[in-house]
Amino acid sequence: MTHAPDAGDGGQGRLLVTGAAGNFGSACARHLLEVGYDIVSLDSRPSHVEGVKNVTADLTDLGQVLEALTYIDWQYTGGVDAIVHLGAIPAPGITTSGATFDNNARATHNVFLAAKIKGVKRVVWASSETTVGIPFDVPPHQVPVTEASPPMPQSTYAMVKVLEEEMARHFCRWDADLTMIGLRFSNIIHESDYPELIGAQGDPAERRWNLWGYVDARDAAQAVELALKTARGGTDVYIIAAADTVSPLTNHDLLRAEFPGVHVVGDIGTHTTLLSIDKARKDLGYEPHFSWRDHVERE
Ligand SMILES: NC(=O)c1ccc[n+]([C@@H]2O[C@H](COP(=O)([O-])OP(=O)(O)OC[C@H]3O[C@@H](n4cnc5c(N)ncnc54)[C@H](O)[C@@H]3O)[C@@H](O)[C@H]2O)c1
Repeated sequence: MTHAPDAGDGGQGRLLVTGAAGNFGSACARHLLEVGYDIVSLDSRPSHVEGVKNVTADLTDLGQVLEALTYIDWQYTGGVDAIVHLGAIPAPGITTSGATFDNNARATHNVFLAAKIKGVKRVVWASSETTVGIPFDVPPHQVPVTEASPPMPQSTYAMVKVLEEEMARHFCRWDADLTMIGLRFSNIIHESDYPELIGAQGDPAERRWNLWGYVDARDAAQAVELALKTARGGTDVYIIAAADTVSPLTNHDLLRAEFPGVHVVGDIGTHTTLLSIDKARKDLGYEPHFSWRDHVERE
């Protein structure tokens, strides 16, 4: 722990969580509080998660990000032990590509640069499954898709995520003590989303766009917690998905219907995720606990 302790310190250290007022940010902040972190939210709107300290600020303004890492009047003093950077326009098509680029690329550069300037040595940030070719209008190079598959962004949103991964590589080259872990989340599903998700399963074409992938928000939060603790330095990226696909159909039936002739590597199982999580399992100890199948059984 490097920051000056103050009231409300959770014992694991203090995190600046950007985007903590968002859908995943709220779930993630709740989980990190539960496991003992003290959380400072940096978002353009306040987080309503109880126990979070709010700093309402604009990530595209470097001065505001630096101040949030340094001192916010009565809120807290001292620095933070690590940054979890989730703040972004979270998908293509929400606003224009130009506005998405301006917001997301600048925000991430500011967060990475502010970490370097303030000597914060660990950053975990939300990359995305979209870096690998989503939507798969063009078939994937192979299944399962892995981190070794070449980046194939199909939108400005995804291209910025690829740029962020490249930025992290150079920040870590400049500072050998820095650890920057990018989590390429699949489509993040909250418990309340399961009924709609399950309703969309009849037609294999409906979710071919991301190879029938998803991740429960609680597992995505687990991945953040693990990435905060990993002993490895430098930068790396991990696909974070559920252990299974979202479809009741078998992988062979899905691929026959939507990607006939795709190069299949190894044993793809019956319902095993086609967005490989082997690397996250091996390096981070990630193991998804939640599946839509359990949700169906409970209904
Ligand atoms: N939701 C998914 O399925 C999914 C999948 C892969 C990756 N991701 C990534 O995960 C992260 C969180 O996604 P989410 O679904 O919670 O999105 P969200 O829109 O619910 O939350 C994003 C938060 O970022 C904040 N934000 C955006 N720009 C900001 C700025 N300039 N200054 C301050 N705050 C700003 C917003 O106010 C919002 O609270 C994003 O980086 C997204 O790209 C999401």
